[in-house]
Amino acid sequence: MRIRKAVFPVAGLGTRFLPATKASAKEILPVVDKPLVQYAVKEAIAAGAEEMVFITSHTKNSIMDHFDRDYELEATLERKGKEELLNAVRDVLPPGITCVYIRQPEALGLGHAISCALPAVGDQDFAVLLADDLIAGSFQPCLAQMQRVYQEYGASVLAVQRVPPEETHKYGIVEVEPIGPGLSEIKNIVEKPDPDKAPSNLAVVGRYILTPRIFKLLDRTNPGAGGEIQLTDAIEALMGEQTVLAYEFEGTRYDCGSKFGYLKANVEMGLQHPEIGAEFRDYLAELTHDWEAGGAAASAKSEKAG
Ligand code: UTP
Repeated sequence: MRIRKAVFPVAGLGTRFLPATKASAKEILPVVDKPLVQYAVKEAIAAGAEEMVFITSHTKNSIMDHFDRDYELEATLERKGKEELLNAVRDVLPPGITCVYIRQPEALGLGHAISCALPAVGDQDFAVLLADDLIAGSFQPCLAQMQRVYQEYGASVLAVQRVPPEETHKYGIVEVEPIGPGLSEIKNIVEKPDPDKAPSNLAVVGRYILTPRIFKLLDRTNPGAGGEIQLTDAIEALMGEQTVLAYEFEGTRYDCGSKFGYLKANVEMGLQHPEIGAEFRDYLAELTHDWEAGGAAASAKSEKAG
């Protein structure tokens, strides 16, 4: 039992990144030297997925282009002997991996985007990865950890993470019954509750393994908050019929849908980058030193003036 299909909803409007996302996808924004969506595809492949299903919109052609072969570019790099760059370009989509693109005609919400994947997913269990949640820093990628849980329990699995109480209003928050270390069964899920209404501080983040029953339930889901079809509502209905597990993954998650999270990802991944990490570390140390010196000089000046 293995998840073979991974769905990437990439048809959101990305309003928090406007104007950068006016004519191109948020998921194509690079973290250091790879677009966000490439990290997510790599994670899906590492977990054993073979078919990548992208839910796109009319402004997202760059995603299709990115995962396509560019024979002219490859021939040029080959001719110039740029072996490393050639491998980096070819590595974007390894052999044996296929891509399917489905248009979401209107940005009617994450739930609606996932329901658009039905013709490609059919009656198989499948994974969903939100590429703007970049998850790194663990020995085993997040989806591979979830795949292990799925193989053991044969049930839907949602990745969850503890968040500070003041942030519960940004997430789907779950109430759970523990099964084992880091693993629980979800008893209740609430979309974006205020801290005093949140049943816990366990937040659902952008990795899911779902059974195809979710498609029927999405069909029956009425538009919720903001007129959007919410995945959370369909998951709540799924919990009424099947076991849905919450898994606290190992690793660091960067919320690259927000500017601050995106910058953090760039700084931390930049520091670890084999090519520029050392130089970047020196630069940051120098910058911090200059700031501290500048801050000390400014406060001495204001003390003198006072
Ligand atoms: P977000 O909630 O981050 O929305 O979507 P967004 O439109 O991308 O960004 P903001 O909030 O306006 O800045 C979570 C994921 O669901 C996809 C997005 O592309 C993102 O990966 N999504 C969202 C769709 O594919 N279709 C939709 O209608 C909504």
